[in-house]
Amino acid sequence: MYTLEEIDRILENCVKLQHISREPANLYEPLDYMMSIGGKRIRPKLCLLTYNLLSDDLNNAILFPAMALEIFHEFTLIHDDIMDRSDTRRGCPTVYRKWNENVAILSGDAMSILAYRYLSYAPEKVLPQALDLFSETAMQVCEGQQYDMDFEDLPFITREDYLEMIGLKTAVLVACSAKMGALIAGAPAEACEALYRFGYQLGIAFQITDDYLDTFGNEKVFGKKIGGDIVNNKKTWLLVESLRRADGDRKQQLENLMLLGEEARSEKVPAVRSLYIDLGVKEAAEAEILVYHRKAMEALSGAGFAPEQTRYLEQFAEALIHREK
Ligand code: IPE
Ligand code: IPE
Ligand code: MG
Ligand code: MG
Ligand code: MG
Repeated sequence: MYTLEEIDRILENCVKLQHISREPANLYEPLDYMMSIGGKRIRPKLCLLTYNLLSDDLNNAILFPAMALEIFHEFTLIHDDIMDRSDTRRGCPTVYRKWNENVAILSGDAMSILAYRYLSYAPEKVLPQALDLFSETAMQVCEGQQYDMDFEDLPFITREDYLEMIGLKTAVLVACSAKMGALIAGAPAEACEALYRFGYQLGIAFQITDDYLDTFGNEKVFGKKIGGDIVNNKKTWLLVESLRRADGDRKQQLENLMLLGEEARSEKVPAVRSLYIDLGVKEAAEAEILVYHRKAMEALSGAGFAPEQTRYLEQFAEALIHREK
């Protein structure tokens, strides 16, 4: 088995090789741009890792599909930044800010097409399953993103609504990545399903962490403008839990703050953040992230993984939840 650091290095080499010298530049340059400004690459990394549980032969039939997961993810980020009106990502201007919305829409579309091209490198024997998994996941991500937008306009949602939304917009792609590697390596169905469940729970922990960092993170390290979720009334874990806990004055205060828009950003963000702290949801979110991390590890039991394989996945999972960016 490769170490996590070796997997990182292999992946960064693939990313460097990723350059399309075709015209028009405004269609293809945003891809180079996104790839060059960083990103944690957790999805392709997870895919290579689960493949590596069974095979050391990292050839094009796994490297291209792993890159497909990253490129699909990059596409969702480009469109997500238009939808969320986000100016900064990975410490740099977002594509629609650096170019314009039309460029961001079309280059995003091209990336989603490219992702399918890369996925088609999967071994012929598993290609139908790989395509089916990928397409279903891609559709679910769109569903999650639509719920995310619809929820901005609702006064509150339930915890179940929240979990369903983040399950779709974020967890399914992490789950798909975990399963894809094992599928391409020819793992038995039970192992593939266990890895899917592992990735799903990890994806939930990952999105709650993202919500947490959007309010409590360090802007320089996180690379996104802190408080964007608060400004947009995003139904994050923090807001859903606060609306559940608040009563009387604090509920009224929170509801009043939610009526404020972007122009009141400098007032709204700190006020909502301190309400979150008063209500104890900052600590509660930290605890909740650990709950889903534990669920992810539990999903692996009984699927026949050796202790060192489980440890390998655990190491990866831990890095994801104890992150600052
Ligand atoms: C951001 O994903 C969108 C979420 C699903 C939270 P990442 O946090 O993986 O973003 P990069 O690729 O590392 O920038
Ligand atoms: C993004 O969720 C999920 C997808 C891009 C599919 P967010 O909107 O929270 O992601 P960030 O915070 O902008 O990275
Ligand atoms: Mg979003
Ligand atoms: Mg966003
Ligand atoms: Mg976010």
